[in-house]
Formats: sequence, structure tokens, C-alpha cells
Amino acid sequence: MKKLSLRELAVPMIKSIDSFNYLLKSHHRRTAVVSYYIGKKLNLNNTELVELVIAAALHDIGALSVQERDMIVQEDVINPAPHCMMGYRMLASLDVFKNISQIIKHHHIKYQDSLNAEEGEILLQSHIIHLADRVDILVSPNEFITNQKSMVTEKIREKAETTFHPEVFKAFEEVSKADIFWIEMNNLEMEQLLRKIDFGAIDFELTIDDIIEFTLTMSRIIDFRSKFTASHSYTVAHLSSLIGGYFGFSEEKCKKLLIAGYLHDIGKIGIDPRLIEKNGPLNDEEFNLIKLHAYYTGQILNELNTSDWFSEIVTWAERHHEKSDGTGYPFSLDDTSLDEGVKILSCSDIISALMEERPYRESLSVDVAFDIIRDNMSASISPDMFEVIEQHKYEINDLVLQCQAHTFEEYRLGSLQ
Ligand SMILES: [Fe+2]
Ligand SMILES: [Fe+2]
Ligand SMILES: [Fe+2]
Repeated sequence: MKKLSLRELAVPMIKSIDSFNYLLKSHHRRTAVVSYYIGKKLNLNNTELVELVIAAALHDIGALSVQERDMIVQEDVINPAPHCMMGYRMLASLDVFKNISQIIKHHHIKYQDSLNAEEGEILLQSHIIHLADRVDILVSPNEFITNQKSMVTEKIREKAETTFHPEVFKAFEEVSKADIFWIEMNNLEMEQLLRKIDFGAIDFELTIDDIIEFTLTMSRIIDFRSKFTASHSYTVAHLSSLIGGYFGFSEEKCKKLLIAGYLHDIGKIGIDPRLIEKNGPLNDEEFNLIKLHAYYTGQILNELNTSDWFSEIVTWAERHHEKSDGTGYPFSLDDTSLDEGVKILSCSDIISALMEERPYRESLSVDVAFDIIRDNMSASISPDMFEVIEQHKYEINDLVLQCQAHTFEEYRLGSLQ
């Protein structure tokens, strides 16, 4: 059965990383539009151009907290290295994104400093994104954009040849003379932009393992926003796949559970990370905001529903907080609408969460976690399912601890400079 091409998977993901992003709404889109105009002017070939636009559309995914966001939207970024490195590490494992991750790694490189770098280390696209990014930061949302043309151009000019690559500056100076450049920066939708570029250069039909690799990468964008959730989606994914095996799921269906695990919390991109990190119980208002993430997950993933193969994954992911007695969210579905796949995903979600550290408590042991589930959570994990997983309690424990150890190492390496 036809699965998805890289383009079909990447476009909805890239779009939602911009439009749902609590931390940096529209910044990725606007930087990508400016980069596209400059890249075209510099006559980049198709591959260079598609890599430029995707890198620009994802360049700040390594900025994970409100503090970091506030730092990188200053006119002069004091310490850009951490978010560049984190973004690079998130994407570097994807073969097809090798150059894209390299571009992101250096997207704050000063032209002067690049002269000392090794041959081939700094790609021209990094210089383009650096300038495009600064253009967006200089534009004020409070004044009509074309009124700001000369102010922005002058400020960029002051740093041409020191901070900005001279050829990139020249291309910017040319393309920015026309109003259309500024108008499109404000108005062109990410999807419209992505339609302008030729994905053919890097597009191909994904195998199931490619989809697993790609969605794992997406999961890190969410998980790494807090050290408390750094291993969450990874653990949910692997645990779901293990438990699927206990229920006789085929290898392919277990892989679908793995993907659903990686994607189930993707909607958290739209949630204030301070809520996730809050040191103490959430009040009703805060909990209502957190609950939105399940709805956002559905909104984001429903764009992938064009592929029949994917639709089961989408349904599981968007229903992962439903409960058999109808008290879950966002749909208040009851047992009659919840299949075994979604029950396995919810079950893995709960076990993983209990066994993770939270700001207000230590991680719980598998024995304590299972006691809590048995005594209090029959609407989320039915007694029948509980009986099966309890037989494998120590296997589950080993897997959760392995997943935690593995991801904490990744998280630590991403945070290192
Ligand atoms: Fe940045
Ligand atoms: Fe940026
Ligand atoms: Fe969730």
C-alpha cells in the first residue's frame, strides 16, 4: 500500500512547527520567505534552494524554552550556540536532512568568523538564513511593513561584510527594493511557499523505517522542551510497540504504534512550555490549556490523512487521552469507539508518565506505577489489559529504563556546547 513521500510527510510537519508554535509563531515562515527570495536571486540550484527553504523553516527548532526564545529575538543575540547545536543534533540523524542540519548549525555565523572555518564547513545557505532571520527580527509588527523598508535595509547594511556575507547582502538589497518582497514576507503562507519549491530534488517514497526515523526526529522537538519529558514520546513509542506484540499485533502494526507514540504529543508544540515545567499541581485553567494538546495533535496529523496507510496512526494519536467511561478528552468518546491500538497507546502513555520524574515528584518505580494503575485507573487501562501487562511488568520496566537512559544521553549531547 502507498505510504507517503518525503514531501507529503514533511510539508504538514514543517507547516505546523511554524503555525502552532507557542514560542515562535510565524518567525520560521517569514524567515523562510526572505531566504527563498535571496536564494532565488543568488541562482541556487533546485537542491540548494529546497534545502535552504526547509532549513529556514526549521532553523530555530532547537530553541526550547521561553527564556531562550526571548534571547534569540533580541537584535543582538548574545549566545546563539545552544539552539543552533540542539537544532543540528535533532535533525542530523536523518540522512536526507544532512545538509539541512549543517545549515542550521551555523545559522548565526558571522561572515568574518566564517573566513576562519574549514573549507566546506559553512554553506552559503547559513549566511542567507542569518541575514533573513535578522530582517524578521528588525521588522516591527506595529507598523505597516513597507514603511519599514529603508530602516531595515540600513540596519542590515551597517553590518554587511562584518556580520553578513557581502554577496548575500547584495542579493537582499536587490530583491528588497520591490514591495512584493515585504508584502509576501507578511502574507505568503508556508504552504504556498513550499509549493513554489521543487521537492523533486530530494523527494522520494518513504519506507516504513524512513517514516519511523522522521517521526522520531519530530518527537524530539516536543520532548526536549523540558528535561522532564525528554524521554517521553520515545518511551511511549517503544512501549506501545512492545505491548502490541503481547496482543498479537503484526510487525507492521507494531511499527504503526511506534510512529503513533512518536507523534501522539506533537500538539504540545502549541502549549506554553512553562506549564509543562510547573513545579506543583496545575489549576483548572492551566489543565484546560494543557488538554488542548490532544486536539492540536489531531489538527496537525489530520493533514496526513490523505494516506489511508496513515489514518489509523492519526486516530490513535488524537485519541490518546480518551477513556472508556467517556471522561477523557477532547472528544469524550467511550469504550465503543476506542480500539485496541488506542488503548495500548494510552496505557503506554500512562506507564511512561508515572515512571518519569516531574518537577514536583521523583520518578516512580514500576511497582508503584502498577499499584496506582490497578487502584485508580480502570477507565484508562481496563482490568483485562492490566492483567496482560502485569505478567510482563519487569520486561516493561527494563524497556522504560533503557528508553530513558538512551534519550537522556541524546538530550545531554544536544545541550552540550
Ligand atoms: Fe536562531
Ligand atoms: Fe530565528
Ligand atoms: Fe498527551
